[in-house]
Amino acid sequence: MKGGEALELLAGELEQIQAETAEILQQHGTGRQELIPIIQEIQERLGYLPKPAMEQVARALDIPEVDVYSVATFYNQFRLNPPGKHQIKVCMGTACHMMGGHIVMDSFERRLEIKEGETTPDREFSLERVACVGCCALAPVVVVDEKVEAKVSPIRVDGILLTFEIEKKEQEKEQQEGGAEE
Ligand code: FES
Repeated sequence: MKGGEALELLAGELEQIQAETAEILQQHGTGRQELIPIIQEIQERLGYLPKPAMEQVARALDIPEVDVYSVATFYNQFRLNPPGKHQIKVCMGTACHMMGGHIVMDSFERRLEIKEGETTPDREFSLERVACVGCCALAPVVVVDEKVEAKVSPIRVDGILLTFEIEKKEQEKEQQEGGAEE
């Protein structure tokens, strides 16, 4: 699964998506073979493939939207949701899977109330599965914002998320205090 309902766009986001997509489309031909290079470039620039961008590409290449969507969901490299401020990647390689990687994934899904491939509505966290990240001795492994977390248990999942929650509260407090001083 690669994510369900698209998240709501933020103010000004749709305009940015449309402008970037139009620019990318201009640089490519309109043949069907251009589809993958186009959506690769959109993802590179925007960090994901927004629905309005896929619709725009379908119109430009004169192909059904569902074709663009099928290609985007077929290849693992494409993501349909914006990356969260914190990116959580749960390793599902063989060693991690054997050591309970799916339990770790379940714990994140439950705590964040999203599914694998999705982003929380406040865009704080995105959750995805990755293949072996090369440190099987530490299985099950989770990569959080490029930091490898070793031998992750459901309790550790709570701990990881709690750290971010505390961090966020402290930042909010600092901002409030900063605002009050002005
Ligand atoms: S299988 Fe997870 S690090 Fe290798």
